[in-house]
Order: sequence, then C-alpha cells, then structure tokens
Amino acid sequence: MEEMYLEWSRQARIALEKPVSVRFNRGFRSIIVAGMGGSGIVGDVLSTLSAKYSSLPVITVKNHILPGYTSPEDLLLVVSYSGNTIETLRIFDSALERNIPMVTVSSGGLLKTRAYEHGIPHVKLPEGLAPRASLPSMLYGILKLLYENNLLNIPFKIIEDSVVFLEEKAGKAVADAGVIAEWVNRCKGLLVISTHSPLESLGLRGKNEFNENAKIPVKVDVAPEWMHNDIVGYEEPFLKDFTVLEVVDPDDKVGVMLVDFMRTIYAKVTGRFHRLVLEGVSLLDKIMYGSMVFGLSSCKLARMRGIDPLKTASILEYKKVAG
Ligand code: F6R
Repeated sequence: MEEMYLEWSRQARIALEKPVSVRFNRGFRSIIVAGMGGSGIVGDVLSTLSAKYSSLPVITVKNHILPGYTSPEDLLLVVSYSGNTIETLRIFDSALERNIPMVTVSSGGLLKTRAYEHGIPHVKLPEGLAPRASLPSMLYGILKLLYENNLLNIPFKIIEDSVVFLEEKAGKAVADAGVIAEWVNRCKGLLVISTHSPLESLGLRGKNEFNENAKIPVKVDVAPEWMHNDIVGYEEPFLKDFTVLEVVDPDDKVGVMLVDFMRTIYAKVTGRFHRLVLEGVSLLDKIMYGSMVFGLSSCKLARMRGIDPLKTASILEYKKVAG
C-alpha cells in the first residue's frame, strides 16, 4: 500500500492534466461537498483551502442528510471513491429531488450509473486504489474543475507547485514517516494528534489514516479550541496513558506557540511527545506533505504490528449492514 502514497505526485499530475468537460456559466452561493471517510476528507481540505484563498464557502456534509439550507444557488460535489457508499447515494437522491446543481466524482459504482442515467456530470477516478490513497486524484481533479469554472481563487501556480513539491519531498516524507512509526510503536496508550488551526483537516486526516491503516484509536486536539474545553480535562485527569504526536506549521508562529503551550498541560500526565514539522511553502504543500507522512507512517506501523494496512474489515462489515 505504501507505493500508492509514493505515487501521489504522479496521481496529482494525471488529475491536473485531464481536461475538464464540466462548465458552469454562473457563480454559486457556496460549494457543498458530500462524502464519507477517505472521500469526505476532500471536503475538509477544500474547506481549509477556501477559507484561505477564496470568497466562496465550502461546507462538508458527512452523513446521509442533505442540509435544509442547500438550494439551487449552491453547487453540490458528491464524492465517493467506490461510488457505492449508502450515505453519499442518499445525498445524491435528495439533491436530484431538490434540483440542486451537482457534479459527481467516483471510480465507478452506482453513483456513476445514476449520474449517467440523470445526465449529471461525472468525474471518473482511476480504479484499483484504496479510497484514502486516492486523495490526490480526488482533490486535484476537483481543484482543477473549480479553478476552470472560476469558483476557487487559489492561484493555479500554487496547485502546480505543490505537485512538484510532493515529488521532491517524497524522500523526506519517507524518513519522517519511519521515525514516527518507530516512535508510535514504542509508545503505549491512546495516540493524540495535537495541532493548531487551520490544520483541522490535516489532524483529522492523520486520525483516519492511523485508524484505517494501523487499526488504532486516535484523538485529534486542535488549538485554540482545545484551550476552551479539553484543557480542563487535565485538572483531574482520568486517562493518563497516552502519547502525543504534535503537528506544526513552522511559518505559523502563533500556531507553534499554542502547540508548545498544549505540551505544558499534557506534561502533567505524559512525557511521550514527538513533533512533525510540516515541509512546504503553501498551505496546500503542507497539508499534502502531512497527509503523505501520515499515510506512510500508519502503513509502516501496521507492518511492524503484523497487520495488513489495506484491509478495513469493520468498514466492510458496517457497509453490509447499512446497505
Ligand atoms: C477506505 C476508506 C474509507 C472510505 C469510506 C467511504 O480506504 O478510506 O474511509 O473512504 O468508507 O467509501 P467511499 O470513499 O468509497 O465512498
């Protein structure tokens, strides 16, 4: 599975080279991204990027209910790598009923079939990958579609540079991932990812990667919100057995200071800390770098524990029950 992550720059380049056939000759009030798990994270990352670069809000929906405020003034992106996820298909059906403009994104499945049946634009993803490993195909495909439709003001150079960056930094990501995997493997207890705003989506991505690849539970703590609730939990701590992986953007001095402060509070209950300092120039570089390190380190940890990173038996079990 590690090779899928090491191919990320190629995946991103292919997605950017693919011509965009969808054209909207209009603007939208907001973009709503519906998807679950490894597909839904695309919405979280787009939301982070739009807050920095765009005037258009991006809202992520990770359930089966299309929010009541969704209107034909919005653009709905329905993303499911497999195209068969029940929650995402329900959103598609509700959007059809409510005449919401849509673009669907999948490698195939029912989503593709239904989109074709109803004449809804469909972006085809390469097949044969784990959804979580296909982040660049989904993210860069959507970034290009939004850019060409003047819906996201992120400079195209930032997008292109991030692809070159990912290629150049793959070796460093492997090295960082190796150190993290060895360290997490030595540590015990709950893994806590401690980070700062606006890296919420990256923290969440890290959690999901360690959950799905290494099969361990993870908690994500994000400053400054953490200072307004979690912090109190360390006054009379109930749980003491955890390990803290800090993730910081070195160019964000306030963010680094906040994560330093969090360490002083965690230190009441644990001495196990490791810090991942994100590489890159743009926010996109940093999110992709961190995501690559999380993907590789969680796979490496799985191997150290004698576990297959690719298999996600309990998700399949849930999907059988959910339909
Ligand atoms: C598995 C994975 C999961 C799926 C999720 C939704 O690699 O990442 O989190 O992404 O179960 O399935 P899809 O992406 O097919 O809609």
